[in-house]
Amino acid sequence: MIPFLNLGRQPIANGFRRSDDISKEYFFDLITGFDEKTKLVSIINPPDKSVLFNESYIYRSSGSSTMRAHFKKTAEDLKKKCEAHPGSKVLEIGSNDGVMVSHLDPRQTICIEPCANMASITRNMGYETHCVFWNKDIAQAILDVHGPIQYIYAANCMCHILEIQEAFEAIELLLDKDGIFIFEDPSMEMMFQNTSYDQIYDEHAHIFSIEAIHTLLNNVGLYIQEVKPLEVHGGSNRFIVSKQKSRYPILYHKFDIDQLKQWSLGVQRSKYQLLATLYEVKKAAGRIAAIGATSKSTVIYNYCGIDSNLIEFISDTTLEKQGLVSPGKHIPVVSPDRLKEVDTAFLGAWNFSEEIKSKHPNIKLITHVPRIRII
Ligand code: TYD
Repeated sequence: MIPFLNLGRQPIANGFRRSDDISKEYFFDLITGFDEKTKLVSIINPPDKSVLFNESYIYRSSGSSTMRAHFKKTAEDLKKKCEAHPGSKVLEIGSNDGVMVSHLDPRQTICIEPCANMASITRNMGYETHCVFWNKDIAQAILDVHGPIQYIYAANCMCHILEIQEAFEAIELLLDKDGIFIFEDPSMEMMFQNTSYDQIYDEHAHIFSIEAIHTLLNNVGLYIQEVKPLEVHGGSNRFIVSKQKSRYPILYHKFDIDQLKQWSLGVQRSKYQLLATLYEVKKAAGRIAAIGATSKSTVIYNYCGIDSNLIEFISDTTLEKQGLVSPGKHIPVVSPDRLKEVDTAFLGAWNFSEEIKSKHPNIKLITHVPRIRII
């Protein structure tokens, strides 16, 4: 793998902690590389998966109305497909707090979720839930009990799996011969276009381009039927995949290492422009907050060296995050009520900018996507 971007020493991006926690914080070098053979962009040496995904996992997929609506629509589409093929089953990999499966019949739905706190939510809702990491062993175990599965779905999960080639082999093993595998993850093409380098954080072991997915799937006898661009998570691609050869040629942008090295210079420029803007606003307005205690913003604060001297607090709607401090830079996370104290905020959750703008119409928002600006 050829390295092309170094985002420096980073803590666990979702590792919000108590302010009085004096235990040693885990840090690692966040370096991203490019595999010239598969064209896959990945983190070189990410933290072990058990450090990231365990019983204290804090992120909830149901945390925004945008995502709740997105998953409801996805479930309704899957439900229609199941009605057209009676007896068929849906398996979700990375079911989190059940925001998608909650719209499906528990008798036809299976969940895979490695974080025990999340797995117990769907289990308590009555869904068969396997608290394991996705791999060929669990695929075989499900195959032995249920037979081939007609619909396999994964949202913002496949890109978390370091051993991605094996993960696709496991899909091939379990998917029915006429089945469909649908998965969606942040898009490399969009990250490249928007300089949204904060999509790169420990959990995102890979950022998928269409080109890399095409190569990795073909290696195991799976084929892209369609790629649908989605607005969610700052620009994602939804891949519709089956065991039949693609009916149309799949078109994609071809990345090379020179382009990526050039792009990383734009990332450095974005950092210095963001700092300049924040200092300017701070000088004029006196106080700046942030909205959205996201993993993405952890990367920005630690890469740019931003702490509570510059951003006083981060507001977040997730109750579990309120009262904690941000990973690495220890900026306090508070309830959105405190936003009435400021008139300018950095948009940590830029992927929800419309929802946030409508909730806080009087707050000026500083964002770095697709370029540094105040909206
Ligand atoms: P997300 O962008 O999905 O985070 P990550 O980078 O970790 O994948 O999470 C959005 C966060 O923003 C989540 O903690 C909830 C919070 N949030 C608000 O505080 N206010 C809002 O209006 C919205 C939509 C989200």
